[in-house]
Amino acid sequence: MKDFKGKIAFITGGASGAGLGQAKLFAKAGMRVAIADVRRDALHKAVGEIVDFAGCKVTDVLPLCFDLTDRKAYEAAADSAEAIFGGPPHLLIQTAGVNSFGPIEASTFDDFDWVMGVCLDHVVNGLIIFVPRMIKAYGGKDGVPKEEFHVATTSSMGAFMGGAGTGPYSAAKSAVNNLMYSYAMALPVYGGGATVLCPANINSNIGNAEKFRPEHLRNTGYHVSEGTMAHLSSIHAGGIDPVELAEYLKEGIENGRIIVMPFGPPEEWMKMLRGNNETIEDYILTAAERNKKMEERMAAMQRNGPPPGAWSVPEGAEPFGGARKDLDYIDPSRNPKW
Ligand code: NAI
Repeated sequence: MKDFKGKIAFITGGASGAGLGQAKLFAKAGMRVAIADVRRDALHKAVGEIVDFAGCKVTDVLPLCFDLTDRKAYEAAADSAEAIFGGPPHLLIQTAGVNSFGPIEASTFDDFDWVMGVCLDHVVNGLIIFVPRMIKAYGGKDGVPKEEFHVATTSSMGAFMGGAGTGPYSAAKSAVNNLMYSYAMALPVYGGGATVLCPANINSNIGNAEKFRPEHLRNTGYHVSEGTMAHLSSIHAGGIDPVELAEYLKEGIENGRIIVMPFGPPEEWMKMLRGNNETIEDYILTAAERNKKMEERMAAMQRNGPPPGAWSVPEGAEPFGGARKDLDYIDPSRNPKW
């Protein structure tokens, strides 16, 4: 998709962080944008920010407040956006997400239901609701659309790896990537495309996501406090600017990339993917062979210093990623010291 002017975008998580950056950039490119988010105050603030940034009319931005995991609410919001803007989106970007970190073996159903509900189920919901409407309205034959259309999702570098402290998040994000690869194979015949954006660290509000965890999903197995949220937020403060991140996505959509990674030129993304693949290849080794390789890697790291993007716990910060303190089966070495 190359021509955005006068077209319609539907962006989830558009009230904050990466989604807000995307709404600003695509509004500036001349699109009318619907922004869907569960936080009403943040949505209203976002409308003003988008109008200021893009220099568009307030009627070009449509705030929709609902929980994206609620399929009926999502369908109703899609209907009203279509009625107001006069058609389904040409560009669907699903970016809403939450995170929660702790030992995988401490995870509860609520941890999985919340994180996978927002990070994976909402993406499925949007694709099921919108893709048939987009094909009907804009799809063509033999790869030539009536009008250009594209679906995109904000995933994560976490999609390429599991982690002992990131289980539900990594599971959701890797599923999202595979889902988007499937759409990327399916849509070109109609003239559409699909892209998945895989950032590492964004300057956003996701460090505070736990504050907005729904009441019925609050039984977490992880240690969460004001201190852990402040620590996470301090890390995200050093992340990529959301509009800069959106520029990477826009370039990827324009040029038909399936994966977009916001780390300089695409040759650098290749190197990162190859590094990840090498780690996955190690999973084939026996435990003894793998441990030996790990030791060699650790020794190299000590010689060469931490890899780019690595961070350490700042003085006085409360470490995140531990288990709830009353879970007595958790090996104490799995809990960071607080
Ligand atoms: P953010 O917290 O600033 O924005 C996420 C938005 O999603 C919030 O406005 C929130 O209200 C909304 N949201 C959450 N649950 C919702 C629900 N059930 N229904 C409707 N809206 C809901 O966070 P950020 O960082 O901008 O996150 C955007 C995406 O980027 C997420 O998918 C996240 O996983 C991904 N990501 C973030 C990274 C980071 O370092 N912040 C790194 C890699 C990926």
